Amino acid sequence: MTELTSSSQWQHLAALAQDIKQLHMRDMFTEDEHRASKYTQTACGITLDFSKNLINQDVMNALQALAESRDLAGKRDAMFSGEAINFTEGRAVLHTALRNFSGNPVLVDGENVMPEVQASLNKVKAFVNSVHDGEHTGYTGKVITDVVAIGIGGSFLGPKIMSEALKPYRASGLKVHYVANVDGCHITDVLAERDIEQTLFVMSSKSFTTQETLQNTLTAKKWFLDNGGTQSDITKHFVAVSSNIKAATDFGMDANNIFPMWDWVGGRYSMWSAIGLPLALGIGFDNFEQMLKGAFAMDEHFQSAPVDQNLPCILALVGLWYRNFFGAQSYVLLPYYHYLRGMPAYVQQLDMESNGKQVSGDTPVDYETGPIVWGSEGTNGQHSFHQLIHQSNTLIPADFIMPLTVPNQDDTHHAMLASNCFAQSQALMQGKTYDEIKAELASKIDDEDELHRLTTHKVMPGNKPSNTLLFEKLDPFTLGALIAMYEHKVFVQGVIWGVNSYDQWGVELGKVMGNQILAKLQDTQDKPDFDASTNQLIAQFIAANSNN
Ligand code: F6P
Repeated sequence: MTELTSSSQWQHLAALAQDIKQLHMRDMFTEDEHRASKYTQTACGITLDFSKNLINQDVMNALQALAESRDLAGKRDAMFSGEAINFTEGRAVLHTALRNFSGNPVLVDGENVMPEVQASLNKVKAFVNSVHDGEHTGYTGKVITDVVAIGIGGSFLGPKIMSEALKPYRASGLKVHYVANVDGCHITDVLAERDIEQTLFVMSSKSFTTQETLQNTLTAKKWFLDNGGTQSDITKHFVAVSSNIKAATDFGMDANNIFPMWDWVGGRYSMWSAIGLPLALGIGFDNFEQMLKGAFAMDEHFQSAPVDQNLPCILALVGLWYRNFFGAQSYVLLPYYHYLRGMPAYVQQLDMESNGKQVSGDTPVDYETGPIVWGSEGTNGQHSFHQLIHQSNTLIPADFIMPLTVPNQDDTHHAMLASNCFAQSQALMQGKTYDEIKAELASKIDDEDELHRLTTHKVMPGNKPSNTLLFEKLDPFTLGALIAMYEHKVFVQGVIWGVNSYDQWGVELGKVMGNQILAKLQDTQDKPDFDASTNQLIAQFIAANSNN
């Protein structure tokens, strides 16, 4: 056993789990008329109803004790103060500095980074305004009407998904298109519809070594030069966001057109930096700044609220409760708002690339760490995977997320959306018993065996946990707070599990092998010398493309 699983706090939680597993949430609500209000907290305009969970006060107290035993407050202060908590890369973790409106300095290696953070934001603001005002034009003097944002992972998901989420806040006249995958059909489709004279490319890569982004940018540059642009026009149509200035200038980017980012900002935490440039171009700088301010408000809440009133802490502890004491392999994100349809993918990267680890400190873990995160917009999932969540033996905790009002509100549509959202969490909690169903069917089915058989198939066990997150409307401020809340949830779980939430060594081997295989695919004379399966896959690819 490890220090964590042998701790008295962990053992106490394991014992409490055995007790809780004998209970049903229906009874918890019946026995405590104040349950709903007791397990509801609001911060930064976000209300979290976590009453439909398999918890009671003993459990919440024990989870809080576990967090305290792992020095959560100390680790939180270490992050905000710029300590190198990314201990395998020796880096600070300071995405919070990117939205630090406190006026206080943030020191990295003794140096206050806030001046350069502010300078970067000012550069973003000036550039966004110059494009919107028509001051920055294409090489023929035409205004920019389309932005093609090229990046992948954290250099793509944030801006893309937040652009979708903030569609009602988009600046008119400017369309932003996102390209990530190295599959050529994506960039080809996007370029096919672009006017070279009015298209701006934003190439985002923290490392400036990511194969997909480099290749897509090379293709874009070739398209530009093949369709009338010249090398001297590149600076008007290509800008870059990277921490690797040398690689970017070696690539041909104009040094003045490179927006900086820093090693102390992880890719999946970087949309608050100039990585958010495509988003800021799409919604305007003021809205982008409001998003930063929402995240800052959540940072303040996370640092100041007591654990039992702290939204990120509550979500983290309840999630860990199911992950480590109920064997939940995943949790599902269910945004009941079409514009938030990308949120599951965003949180999937944020959570799984952060906490999908197997080592705590320098010791392999003997417990589960990061869960599988998945989901899709409601109500679509109700016609797809909700069946499994309701009636299988697999426990899948759910987060329901919904704005109480939407732009262009059609009261009927929105009331239907809300009623579905609330009904799903109600059905998951309450279920429907054998006796209740049998009583309904008895008048229709005379045969006892048939009645029993059908009743058995229709039982809804209930006792399936969920959180419901509500907010007035999804404006930039609220979106910033919502995303920061999930960032800090991931942080809290990472602290308790003792993993490094800020490296991603697991993605390196695939990149190396991909380059080795690419060499064989491009030089078909060079016989592959991999495992038999990979060799035959390569052979099939070469055979299928031998006439191209
Ligand atoms: O998936 C690995 C990863 O390094 C992510 O962490 C990152 O967001 C993405 O690839 C893109 O990396 P870069 O911004 O360096 O191109």
